[in-house]
Amino acid sequence: MPTLEEQRFDELIAADARVEPRDWMPEGYRKTLVRQISQHAHSEIIGMQPEANWISRAPSLKRKAILMAKVQDEAGHGLYLYSAAQTLGTPRDEMFQALVDGTAKYSSIFNYPTLTWADMGAIGWLVDGAAICNQVPLCRASYGPYGRAMVRICKEESFHQRQGFEILLELMNGTDAQKAMAQDAVDRWYAPSLMMFGPPDGDSPNSQQSMAWNIKRFSNDDLRQRFVDMLVPQAEALGVTLPDPDLRFNEQTGHYDYGQLDWDEFHEVLAGRGPCNGQRLAHRRKAFEDGAWVREAAAAYARTQAQLEKVAS
Ligand SMILES: [Fe+2]
Ligand SMILES: [Fe+2]
Repeated sequence: MPTLEEQRFDELIAADARVEPRDWMPEGYRKTLVRQISQHAHSEIIGMQPEANWISRAPSLKRKAILMAKVQDEAGHGLYLYSAAQTLGTPRDEMFQALVDGTAKYSSIFNYPTLTWADMGAIGWLVDGAAICNQVPLCRASYGPYGRAMVRICKEESFHQRQGFEILLELMNGTDAQKAMAQDAVDRWYAPSLMMFGPPDGDSPNSQQSMAWNIKRFSNDDLRQRFVDMLVPQAEALGVTLPDPDLRFNEQTGHYDYGQLDWDEFHEVLAGRGPCNGQRLAHRRKAFEDGAWVREAAAAYARTQAQLEKVAS
């Protein structure tokens, strides 16, 4: 016999209504959300590093301003998401600790290096593009604070994707060397961006439950297919080649078939053995340590203010 609380939760989910922080929820639901939202927050924050790498070397003042705004947006996304996760009762310090200890995961895509300026284009177009495909359905996630955070995040992600597309378009209208640089960036970022949707449906044990709870709305493979179908005409408009010899339109399904992805590489990078995992975490740790004086100063200021208020009252 389900308890009254369980019944109410099941009714909310069945009605496709929102679960709010004050509502009772099963422990599994809470844990799944904390894991997913905090991983998402970590990805936004760690994802600032590969792009910040190019702020000082952006080719013009305009490009620098755009890239800085984009990287700042990602910081904002991280903050909304940490706040959403905190409403589930997990303190921010705990989430941060799990990240720097390496026990929490973040998107494996951010463990690849950014070698040329064209990588800023490929990341915007492919990585932010995959993020949008993944995240638009999350705007309807059953947990209220998560869904609401995603609405704002998605608006900014579409700007990110367009700025990446535009960087590549300009390079593809440039010299042969610029075209080659754009193609090389697409060659390196294409497969990792397809892997951002997670393992194939058969190897994704948590997906079923997440779909039953209305957290996830589409399976990993469905979202990946949607992304590939979206990319092909955009690649044609850019004049770049997507690096997959098996990519072709399937008349029967009405979708593009694509080749096998290297899931061994995905699992290696996810397990911490990607090209930049160590560097990303070391940088995050150092940024936290370097910011200690700000936190101490803010705490000292708050103490003094509280004392002054006490004296005045
Ligand atoms: Fe973001
Ligand atoms: Fe973004």
